[in-house]
Amino acid sequence: MKKIAVFVSGGGSNLQALMDAITDGYIKDASIVVVVSNKKEAYGLERAVKSGIDTLFLDPKDFKNAQEYDKNLAEKMNALKIDIVCLAGYMKILKPIFLEVFKGKVLNIHPALLPSFGGEGCYGLHVHEKVLEAGVKVTGVTVHFVDEGADTGPIILQKTVEVSDEDTPESLQKKVLKYEHESYKEALKYVVQDRVSINGKKTYIKPSGKI
Ligand code: GRF
Repeated sequence: MKKIAVFVSGGGSNLQALMDAITDGYIKDASIVVVVSNKKEAYGLERAVKSGIDTLFLDPKDFKNAQEYDKNLAEKMNALKIDIVCLAGYMKILKPIFLEVFKGKVLNIHPALLPSFGGEGCYGLHVHEKVLEAGVKVTGVTVHFVDEGADTGPIILQKTVEVSDEDTPESLQKKVLKYEHESYKEALKYVVQDRVSINGKKTYIKPSGKI
């Protein structure tokens, strides 16, 4: 049984998709044991409570700096024996002190096709604004492992979404979000099944018959 922690800062629709995927049996042998947030008002925390999952709100104001915050977070996740951390709209860059402990075990989802339209400042509606400004005809979703950069870790899975002439940042966000939910649960399933290996920037997913 893999123990999962999901980190959120906002609405948590991706968290919901992951919780549902476990409840309905799409992802087996896994359990979300805690939902963590740096924002007290994050609706994701409420979603967790509604599903009977423990929550942990860690207030950045209670720590000297981000380093101390992440050190404490790593200790707490270690104490819970967390195997996999899923970032789902978590608006904080994890420090090396956390990532060293959970190397190759932290996943993130990004609402565009990385390495385009990612990095510092590329979050929320900004991503989709930049996509429309660039005039690309396809955008999409990326699920990746987290490394010390912003949106630079090895890619696990990507799905494409067409951009239409009528799209606005809001409509694109909505369209992409639907694919995010599908993609995140699929990628997490592979990781839970230990089918994903990492070699430098590249990941390899073993076919299901060869677990
Ligand atoms: C998603 O677009 C995700 O890709 C990004 O933050 C957003 C979170 O949405 N990292 P939600 O809170 O899961 O609804």
